[in-house]
Formats: sequence, C-alpha cells, structure tokens
Amino acid sequence: MSPFRLSRTLPGDAMEAALRADVLEGLTGTPKTLPPKWFYDARGSELFERITELPEYYPTRAEREILADRAGEIAAAAGARTLVELGSGSSEKTRYLLDALTGLRAYVPVDVSESALTLAGRALAAERPELRVHALIADFTAGLTLPDTPGPRLLVFLGGTIGNLLPAERAAFLSSVRALLSPGDALLLGTDLVKDEEVLVRAYDDAAGVTAAFNKNVLTVINRELGADFDPAAFDHVALWDARREWIEMRLRSRTAQTVKVPALGLAVDFAAGEELRTEVSAKFREAGVRGELSAAGLEPARWWTDGAGRFALSLSVAR
Ligand code: AVJ
Repeated sequence: MSPFRLSRTLPGDAMEAALRADVLEGLTGTPKTLPPKWFYDARGSELFERITELPEYYPTRAEREILADRAGEIAAAAGARTLVELGSGSSEKTRYLLDALTGLRAYVPVDVSESALTLAGRALAAERPELRVHALIADFTAGLTLPDTPGPRLLVFLGGTIGNLLPAERAAFLSSVRALLSPGDALLLGTDLVKDEEVLVRAYDDAAGVTAAFNKNVLTVINRELGADFDPAAFDHVALWDARREWIEMRLRSRTAQTVKVPALGLAVDFAAGEELRTEVSAKFREAGVRGELSAAGLEPARWWTDGAGRFALSLSVAR
C-alpha cells in the first residue's frame, strides 16, 4: 500500500457554506466580484492545465525554467525534511524539488481541488513509497493546521498564485504562513513580474479562448452548486492591466441587461448591459516590493532567482 493520505481541514459542507457566503457577498456588492478560488472544480483545473500550455501564458514555463536550473541550490539552502506545497494543483513543477531534496521524508500538498490532489498525490505515493504523502483539501487563505511531520520544513507557494490576493490579504496570508513555520524553516515563493502590458494582457486573453472558457467556468460552478441559471454565453471575457495597482484583472461583462437567479441564496441578481463582474486579480511584482512584504511578515529574504528573460521570480526567505 502506498502511504497516501487525504484529509479535509474543512468538511465538504463548510466548503459549500464558504461558496454561498462568497457568492452572496460578491454578487450583492458594487462592483460585483467573485473570488478566483471557485474556478477550480474538475473542469476548471483541467482548463487551467491547458492554459499553462498556451503559447501566450509564459508564467508556468518561466517558473519551470527556474526550478529546473536552481532546484539543487534551493534544496541545499532549505535542507528540508518536509515539503509543504500550497495550491499544489497537478504538482508537476514540484518534481524538481522533490527530486533535489535528498533528505525529504514527507510531502504535504494542499489544494481546494480534490480531483487535482488525488490524481497527483496517488501517482507520487506510488512512485516514492518511502515518502509520506499527506494531501490536504484546504483553503490556505483560511486557518491551516499542518500534519506533524519532521522539520525543517520548506513551504512552497508557486505559480504566482499569491498575486490572486489583494495587498491586505497578502499581508495577512504571509503572516499566517510565518506562523506555520519555526525559526529556520523556509518559504519558496513564486511571483510573476511586472512587464510589458501587451505581453501581460495576451497571457490572460489567449487567441484560442481557453482563458475565456476558464473564466466563464466559475458561472458553471455556481449553477451546479447553488442552482443558479447563469448563461455563460451571455457574458464576454475581459482581461485588463491596471497600471496603477500593477495587476491584471479578469472580468465577465454582461452582454445584455439580464437577471440571474441563485435559488440556494434566494437571490435575483440584476446585471445592466455592459456591467462587469470581477473574477480575478493577478498582481505582478517587483523585487523590492516582494522583499518588503516578506520582511514585514517576519520572513528574512535570502535568495532571488529569475528566468533568463526576467519574467518571473522565485524567492527564498527564512523564518526568523
Ligand atoms: C494559477 C493564479 C497563478 O493568476 O496567472 C491563469 C490563474 N488566471 N489565467 C494566474 C490564471 C487566468 C493563475 N494562477
């Protein structure tokens, strides 16, 4: 038997309660918003995997390049016996670290997508019978309790997903990450970098329309889980660069005036023609900003690596 274990830090109905609360707050507010974590049902996770292979979507390839080149350095600097990965998804890029961390005893992938966790976790446990794989279905922006595994720990948060958090949420998140770590434990953080607007917008509005389908998938999730009657075809995908806040926003723009019912919430939501629903913020970073945010959370910035084209960065910081 492979030592694969899957646990929920939240029961399934707490996930449902969180979705209801988010949808109620987001669709009754002005402007309308939805948190990006609800993109990732089985279909959304699959669409995201397709996004990572698109010619326009460079972050995955740029980050993989850094990991391929630097996994040895990262592993030597961290010397971890436990690898915790937040938002692990398919765990595909994590292979470089898993292979380089020679003293590794436990791998703890954490994700909201049960399908992605089970697929990746089982495959890994089968290949590495000596490695304890303890997958957690959890929302890492809420309180997280880690299983009792040997230190030192290396906590990794790849893909630039920290950019999905707003600045105040980011500060709270980094403080909660710091609280999970003991002195000497490390954080490896992936951050997409500020660059040319055209390159950024294309990465979130690809020619094949995969990102548009991914964006609209959140409506399908709400239809299924809350009995809503969103017509995904009645919305247009929008990606734009906010130069002042240095983030990409994805939105869904209502093509017409329409009313959407959400029976599980007893809600009827009016959309004006052209009204936009914000579904994701994806912040882009600069080195000084990342260092500042890490320091403010009690994490000492130690290393900074970018891909050859300077599009994406991995930073290693150490808990004080
Ligand atoms: C998985 C959050 C890193 O923000 O680039 C991809 C998600 N959204 N295309 C990102 C996403 C649109 C992605 N992260």
